[in-house]
Amino acid sequence: MKKYPFKTVNTAFFLALTFPAVALSHEAGDFILRVGAVSVAPDESSSLISTVNTGALAATKAGVGDSTQVGLNFVYMLTDNIGAEVLAATPFEHDLTAAGLDQYGFATRNLGTTDQLPPTLTFNYFLGNSGSAIRPYVGLGVNYTTFFEKSLSSQARNELGASSLDLDDSYGLAYRAGVDWNLTENWMLNASMWKIDIDTDASFNSALGKVTADVDIDPWVYMISLGYRF
Ligand code: NI
Repeated sequence: MKKYPFKTVNTAFFLALTFPAVALSHEAGDFILRVGAVSVAPDESSSLISTVNTGALAATKAGVGDSTQVGLNFVYMLTDNIGAEVLAATPFEHDLTAAGLDQYGFATRNLGTTDQLPPTLTFNYFLGNSGSAIRPYVGLGVNYTTFFEKSLSSQARNELGASSLDLDDSYGLAYRAGVDWNLTENWMLNASMWKIDIDTDASFNSALGKVTADVDIDPWVYMISLGYRF
């Protein structure tokens, strides 16, 4: 049998389990702040890219790249098992791409970039109780995503005559799962994820008239964080 590699972490876990007398886990009225790294990985699907002059261009699609930022979670425990949680972060910057334009004589693949902020409110149900070191949870909530600092690549501007990039804001459902691992009375580690329904209509003006694509970004969002319970 292989030796478990995370010996230090394992020891902290063991210590956490061996002092159950302290109320070491989430209780009604607790406020939890988590700080960590949040990674947004789009699981996107796109309509065909369409222009006013040509209509839909067969075998084309728009794409959105990954982005990682510093994220914050605020949790307020309404009961020992139900917490309201907000996800906040510094702005995520994503690359925007177009696939398939080469068939129509254009070399452009990199369309540009956009920043976005996806504030998300979820209500989470925590398993276990106020004495449990480990509190897995699942939740459901709503997301609002706004796009800003939208900029077109020089290739898109020069080759396609692109200008005025726009991406509509999005409202949608957010699904949540994660686990808090209480190390001490106040400190915890967290690993968690969201699946968020983010859909946008993207457009820009070009030499072929207005270019449009409907993009379901629908990202998986992952967070690793350190939390503190007040
Ligand atoms: Ni969607």
